[in-house]
Amino acid sequence: MKELLVILAHPNFAESRGNKALVEAIQMLSFVKIHNLYERYPSWQIDVQIEQDLLRYYDLIVLQYPLQWYSVPPLLKKWMDDVLTYGFAFGAEGTALQGKVLMPAITTGGSSDMYVAGGAVNFTISEFLRPIQQTAGYCSMTYKTPFTVHGLLPEALGIPGMISDEQLLAAAQQYQHRLQQLAASES
Ligand SMILES: Cc1cc2nc3c(=O)[nH]c(=O)nc-3n(C[C@H](O)[C@H](O)[C@H](O)COP(=O)(O)O)c2cc1C
Repeated sequence: MKELLVILAHPNFAESRGNKALVEAIQMLSFVKIHNLYERYPSWQIDVQIEQDLLRYYDLIVLQYPLQWYSVPPLLKKWMDDVLTYGFAFGAEGTALQGKVLMPAITTGGSSDMYVAGGAVNFTISEFLRPIQQTAGYCSMTYKTPFTVHGLLPEALGIPGMISDEQLLAAAQQYQHRLQQLAASES
């Protein structure tokens, strides 16, 4: 198995249901390192050297986060701005990420039937992830199909199509398999 880095960016992990279930399903995997950005950087002062060293070491990188305003949580955006620098991630000598694999792992409040053309949010998750896909491309990384869990809005809102505990557990097991496949196929 190849080693794999999960960069977890959840602004309120203590209250999480979806990302917590995903983490619980993968944290025992010996080849997985979970790097929790909000825990590591409570004051948002990102140690660029450490982050770049981590990215140099791992060839398989998962960005795991809850979708927020159809985008990444703000500390993950800051991480991208601070860490994916010219001369490291791009530019003539910025080849540190070349050939590495990037896979998003996303949770959304909205249900899967909202994430279609003409649905409640008009666009697919692939369309919302284009900036991540192109960031991977710009850094000469291989972008993998995202792993997505939909329907995590609180039950109290009464919105149909939300994920049950059984479905979430099944999704978390699929996530575990997906990471196992990724680590095995890239070995
Ligand atoms: C600031 C904020 C913005 C959000 N924006 C979206 C959004 O654009 N689309 C969506 O489907 N859910 C959105 N949500 C809901 C979260 O994606 C959802 O609560 C999260 O994925 C659930 O995962 P968790 O149980 O790990 O917290 C948003 C939540 C917050 C707090």
